[in-house]
Amino acid sequence: MKFAFFDAKPYDISSFENISKEKGVEFKFFETKLNEDTMELAHGFDGVCVFVNDTVTAKVIDYFYENGIKMIALRCAGFNNVDVKAAYGKVHIFHVPAYSPYAVAEHAMAMLLTSIRRIHKAYIRTKDFNFSLNGLTGFDLYGKTAGIIGTGKIGRIFINICKGFGMKVIAYDPYPSEEYGIEYVSLDELLGRSDIISLHCPLTKDTYHIIDYPSIEKVKKGVVIINTSRGALINAEALLEGIKSRKIGAACLDVYEEESDIFFEDFSGHIVSDDTLARLITMPNVLVTSHQAFLTEEALRNIAETTLNNIIEFSNNGCCENELCYHCGKTANCKTNRIKKCF
Ligand code: NAI
Repeated sequence: MKFAFFDAKPYDISSFENISKEKGVEFKFFETKLNEDTMELAHGFDGVCVFVNDTVTAKVIDYFYENGIKMIALRCAGFNNVDVKAAYGKVHIFHVPAYSPYAVAEHAMAMLLTSIRRIHKAYIRTKDFNFSLNGLTGFDLYGKTAGIIGTGKIGRIFINICKGFGMKVIAYDPYPSEEYGIEYVSLDELLGRSDIISLHCPLTKDTYHIIDYPSIEKVKKGVVIINTSRGALINAEALLEGIKSRKIGAACLDVYEEESDIFFEDFSGHIVSDDTLARLITMPNVLVTSHQAFLTEEALRNIAETTLNNIIEFSNNGCCENELCYHCGKTANCKTNRIKKCF
C-alpha cells in the first residue's frame, strides 16, 4: 500500500520509517501541507496521511473519491480540519484518538509554571550573566483555583496534576463524568471563580471562541488562560484586548487560530504578517509554543503505531475501530448505529 504523507517533518519521518516497512506500508513524504492547491500530489496513492494543519475540504475529498484514494489516515486526535460530512460515503477517515494525553497535560503545566515563575525570562537573564531578580516575582499555585473546560482524557490528567500542586479544581463539560469526583460548575461560574483557566475541549461550533469578549468580561482580574487544544477556542483579538486592559494576567498558548500557515515553520529572519500574533508575542505575559504539546518520544511512537495499525486493520478487515463516523462524530461508541464502519 502506498500513502502520501503530507506536512512531513524530520521527527515524523524517523518515527514512521522505523516501523512502516515491517508493516508493509510505503510512505512518500511531502513537506507541503495538504490543501486544495496540493491535493493532486496524492494522485496514484491508496491513501493520504495528514496532520492538524492540513486542510481537507469537500473539494479535496471529491478529488480523492474521483481518483480512487480511499483512506485518510489522520495522525492526530482532533479532526476539525477535515470535512467529515463531505467524506461520508466516499472516503474512510481514521484518527489516533489518544497518543499521549500525558504529553499535552504536562506541557500545559510546563507552560503555566514557566509563565507564572518567569522561567523564560530568568533563563535569558542568567545566560547573559544578569542575576537580578527584579520583575521576576511570581505567585504560588497552592490554594489557587484551576478551572478546566473539557474533562476528557487530557483535561482529567491536567486536573490530577493541579491537585498534586494543592490547587482547588472546578470544571465545565456539557457531558460531565461522574466517575472521577470532579466538581462541575456552569461555564459562567468557572469563568468567575478561576485563577487559572485551561482549555481541554475539542473545537466544535459550540466551543468556537468559547473565550471571547463576553467571556473575558466575566473572568477574574489577573486570570491565567492556557490553551493547548485548538486555536479557535479563543478569539485572539479579544485575548489581546484582555491582556492590554490587564484583565488577563497571562496567556499560555500552544495553539493559535490562524496557526496553519505559521506554526511548525521557521520564520526567523522573515516578517510575520499576522499582526495579532506578532503583538501577542511582544507581550511579556504571553508565552507561545508552536503546537508542541504532543511532541514527546512516547507520543510520536504511539502516533506512528496507531496510524499504521488503522491502515492495516482497514485494509485487512474492511473496517477500523478508529474510523471517524459522520453520524455520531465519535469513533468508539457508535458501533450499535453501524456495522463496524461508517458506510
Ligand atoms: P477528549 O475527547 O478525551 O475530551 C474532550 C472533552 O471535551 C470531553 O469530555 C467532552 O465532553 C468535552 N467537551 C465537548 N464539548 C464541550 C464544550 N462545549 N465545552 C466543554 N467541554 C466540552 O479529548 P482529549 O484527548 O482530552 O483532547 C482534548 C483536545 O486537546 C483535543 O480536542 C485536541 O483539540 C487537543 N489536543 C492538542 C494537542 C496538542 O499538541 N496541542 C494534542 C492532542 C490533542
